[in-house]
Amino acid sequence: MKERLEQIAREAAEAIAGADSMRKLEEARLRFLGKKGEMTAVLRGMAAFTREERPAIGQLVNSVREKIESLFTQAEALFSRKALEDRIKNETLDITLPGKQAALGHKHPITLVAEEIGEVFLGMGYEIAEGPEIELDLFNFELLNIPKGHPARDVQDSFFIDENIVLRTHTSPVQVRAMLSGKLPIRIICPGKTYRIDEMDATHSPVFHQVEALVVDKGVTMGDLIGTLKKFAESIFGGDTVIRLRPHHFQFTEPSAEVDVSCWECGGKGCRVCKNEGFIELLGAGMVNPKVLSMCGIDPDVYSGFAFGMGLERVAMCKYNISSLRWLYDNDIRYLSQA
Ligand code: DAH
Repeated sequence: MKERLEQIAREAAEAIAGADSMRKLEEARLRFLGKKGEMTAVLRGMAAFTREERPAIGQLVNSVREKIESLFTQAEALFSRKALEDRIKNETLDITLPGKQAALGHKHPITLVAEEIGEVFLGMGYEIAEGPEIELDLFNFELLNIPKGHPARDVQDSFFIDENIVLRTHTSPVQVRAMLSGKLPIRIICPGKTYRIDEMDATHSPVFHQVEALVVDKGVTMGDLIGTLKKFAESIFGGDTVIRLRPHHFQFTEPSAEVDVSCWECGGKGCRVCKNEGFIELLGAGMVNPKVLSMCGIDPDVYSGFAFGMGLERVAMCKYNISSLRWLYDNDIRYLSQA
């Protein structure tokens, strides 16, 4: 028995040393350690020994088995190391080759200006407020001093859902909501979608975007409005931008103004971009009409405020020199990704 085991050990060592591939090694393992292998055969032969002899023989069998197993483990480790080395040798990686670039999306120019305007006002301590796009006539018109039948409604040709509900024609109803909430002082901007019955053309779209600003506090003056607009225009169009206010009329502000910015192309001298005006119209603004303040539950003898509102499409077109509003809605990525 002892000789048989020694012989098996010797043969196994030879077979392992002679195996030149992982497959041959596996074959050798089956031959010696497998279920139908040599070692199993030896174990079967144990039956021939007496009870007293068995422990010693059992020990011998185990120690030979362990020896053979450890030879296999070593040989396997050698093969897998060699396989790895071969792979490293054959797999040359040229890190100078250009990589495959994943096509990243691009923010829409309207989103870009909305975010940029948001940053400017957040920096001045404003909060961002939102309101519904389906709005009460009461908030969209009436509390902004535009009663039913008033001609000021005509310029905001509206999508009515019923007599009292309308797709908001401007972001100004968010002002009303803020004032009605009763929390003072107010310092908000309200960006969002707005709707008017307009045919799509170079400057109109039935869906467009506005951003509104509202400040209500004690002692707010027109000087605050002008300073804020100046800071805003400089941040968006560059440090040497000049603003110009022209008297205008809005029902919800008194006094009201239209605000122009000096042409970023010619700096105010007059060119093709500003149609020789030197200035480009940007937004509407004014001091909140005391009537609006009191309709919204704020005492105009104690509080005053300013507001302004602008079209984001207009800002994007100005900032990125986009000639027609259609470009913003045509979804041509070649065009939109230039912003
Ligand atoms: N709501 C006006 C519009 O859509 C824009 C506007 C003008 C908003 C003056 C204001 C403002 O807050 O003070 O034409």
